[in-house]
Amino acid sequence: MADQFHRLLLAAIIFFGLLLSFCHGGVTSSFVRKLEKTIDMPLDADVFRVPHGYNAPQQVHITQGNMDGSAVIVSWVTPGRAGSNMVLYGTSEDNLKFQAKGKLTQYKYYTYKSGFIHHCTLRNLKFATKYYYKLGIGNTTRQFWFTTPPEVGPDVPYTFGLIGDLGQSYDSNSTLSHYELNPIKGEAVLFVGDLSYADNYPNHDNVRWDTWGRFVERSVAYQPWIWTAGNHEIDFAPEIGETKPFKPFSHRYTVPYKASGSTAPFWYSIKRASAHVIVLSSYSAYGKYTPQYKWLEEEFPKVNRSETPWLIVLMHSPWYNSYNYHYMEGESMRVMYEPWFVQNKVDVVFAGHVHAYERTHRISNIAYNIINGDCMPVDDPSAPVYITIGDGGNLEGLATNMTRSNAAPKTVFQLTGRPYSFGHAIFSLSRTLTHAYYACPSTGTKTAMQSGCYRFYVVL
Ligand SMILES: [Fe+2]
Repeated sequence: MADQFHRLLLAAIIFFGLLLSFCHGGVTSSFVRKLEKTIDMPLDADVFRVPHGYNAPQQVHITQGNMDGSAVIVSWVTPGRAGSNMVLYGTSEDNLKFQAKGKLTQYKYYTYKSGFIHHCTLRNLKFATKYYYKLGIGNTTRQFWFTTPPEVGPDVPYTFGLIGDLGQSYDSNSTLSHYELNPIKGEAVLFVGDLSYADNYPNHDNVRWDTWGRFVERSVAYQPWIWTAGNHEIDFAPEIGETKPFKPFSHRYTVPYKASGSTAPFWYSIKRASAHVIVLSSYSAYGKYTPQYKWLEEEFPKVNRSETPWLIVLMHSPWYNSYNYHYMEGESMRVMYEPWFVQNKVDVVFAGHVHAYERTHRISNIAYNIINGDCMPVDDPSAPVYITIGDGGNLEGLATNMTRSNAAPKTVFQLTGRPYSFGHAIFSLSRTLTHAYYACPSTGTKTAMQSGCYRFYVVL
């Protein structure tokens, strides 16, 4: 059955758009080649503003709450006291007739003590329906909305945004604004890891987790972001007594990992529209017999291509990477799992970590057994396309230094020779056959080089 639907996939397309953002201004016709490190926005930046009212809910964010998208997890922070743990919600802005009670957590990190972190799951939601939800008490309530995805099925088009390695620099803000202003509207974000970069501050200053939460609220309070753990989520700092990996991230960002039979929130899966999305953890054990290995081994047979023809994998550290930056860091995981990806005909793998953009053709490198010397990847129609989209805009700057690719040089698409920039991507699932296409999405007249934005279709 999977084969049948894979053949159908051959008649489908991925329409993939990448908008490269610019450091200054929204619309410009000239590239800015920015090689120097960017800087974080100051603590008093307007995007970090604390909402009005005593103990007002802040850092509001949502993510998918179960396997099929009929549940949503709403999370927020109240800084001064616990306050209300309830979410009022409904399909009418003026009649929030449902309510759900959340859970509360707090944590300490060195000398930092978090606010009261709330997570509340709204269940049994209708598909493709706009819901309004309200948090807080008395005069300090805040109201938001989201739209649930269509019911899972093979013919359901859907548009994802893709952002990785975002951070909280001026360029991060530009990237997020460009995503919001993109005329092709993303309905949910596949976030490929590295959120706040708080760990770049002395003692991993967790205040920067709070500022990041307030910064991205303008998007993530209204559409779910699907979280992948990156290395900047580990927050392992034995020198200050912090030895529990992923502590701030785990408290702040919950995911529905139990729904997919996972035993930890760092690897899990969801279905959304016509896609089955598998999230893996580059920074959790993935060797044979480990929990992640066993889970993934059992997960692939559960993928029903007649229901979700698109099989997408998210991870932080890319398996194929042509930049010197983080070169070959994903190699050991590739060696472990790539045969499964080919056997199960994964369509596309998104990764971050490398602050750049790169896309391969469908390639695999599973033939090598030392004796045969076949150590280079080859074109493989059963293999996924690998896309690195780690150029969200964090303070570490862009990766621009290329090395010899560990992907096949003739099949990889890189930004070599083009100006580098920060950006996001749009990934639309469709079942309409079309030709490969490459043009500027906003004007349709300028070339990619002139406009700095481009998109293309990949015929799978
Ligand atoms: Fe990273």
